Amino acid sequence: MTGRIIGTGSYSPELVWDNNKLAEMVETSDEWIRERTGIARRHIEKEKSASEMAVEAAKKAMESCKEIKAEDLGAIIVCSIAQEEVLPSVSCQVQAAIGATNAFCFDLKAACSGFVFAYNTCIAYMNMGLIKNALIVGVEKLSSITDWTDRSSCILFGDGAGAAVITACEEEGAMMMRCEGSRGEVLTCPAGSTLIMNGQEVFKFAVRSVPEAILEVMSQKMLAKEDVDYYILHQANKRIVESVAKRLGEPMEKFPMNIDEYGNTSSASIPLLVDELYRSGKLPQGSRLIMAGFGAGLSWGASYVTV
Ligand code: ACO
Repeated sequence: MTGRIIGTGSYSPELVWDNNKLAEMVETSDEWIRERTGIARRHIEKEKSASEMAVEAAKKAMESCKEIKAEDLGAIIVCSIAQEEVLPSVSCQVQAAIGATNAFCFDLKAACSGFVFAYNTCIAYMNMGLIKNALIVGVEKLSSITDWTDRSSCILFGDGAGAAVITACEEEGAMMMRCEGSRGEVLTCPAGSTLIMNGQEVFKFAVRSVPEAILEVMSQKMLAKEDVDYYILHQANKRIVESVAKRLGEPMEKFPMNIDEYGNTSSASIPLLVDELYRSGKLPQGSRLIMAGFGAGLSWGASYVTV
């Protein structure tokens, strides 16, 4: 069994900080940031809480979904590393806001792998026959845990939320998830502090692990390159995406990106990108995608999804 996307939504803060704004805050330049990361600007949330952002994205996803109503959702999973409240969970707040009275809800923390891990979790429940439909939301207020005096990391991050409604479909699925907890020091955020990152180590880890993850999913499902319409990668760095494309021997057109507009929004980046593609008509029915996430933990994973 695999998942089919039947609705998407997103929320992006109105406030935009371009690279020149960051150059006023730390010693950097628009040219350096664009060249090394592909990022031109990021959206910053100053008013809404993470749960309010998640609700906005979730409402839009449900509005776009013509096949089911909120009461038909069996599960809501929200993934996030940057949310204010400890309790109640963001997913329960989303449930209340959209009236998904029959869904069980929980939050999942797997950093930039969050959306893929949440999707894979839903597919497992679908395979067990526990649920038929699920809503997955990725929401991040990374600006609240970014050290805005550290030029090696603050140039990367942004805020946003993305959501997708998934329904079970009989087609055979494929997925993988891995973690390497012994390398957790590569990307940390102590309680009450800010993100501390060894950028070069993250880069090396990503360009090695993501192609392996994608190839594992393709081999599980015996997919040839021409069977995959798009590879939807976590938007961390344009150069990481380019390197993965090169290693897979696939053209860049199959690796859509929006990192220039949003920067790295961790678990929100994949659903933000999927929503953009879905709404612009680039994902007609029957499209076949492989999503891949990677990040703190270390953690990484990939999965097959259809539209
Ligand atoms: N502006 C100008 N110069 C800078 C900046 C900046 N913002 N940041 C670093 N530099 C300088 C460094 O000091 C260094 O100078 P030196 O040569 O005089 O010592 C030089 O630029 C090169 O620095 P590197 O760290 O080698 O730069 P690199 O090419 O590796 O790019 C970057 C850094 C963009 C962080 C890159 O390593 C990267 O993107 N890594 C992946 C990070 C990532 O994806 N993290 C998030 C994943 S997990 C998650 O999503 C939560």
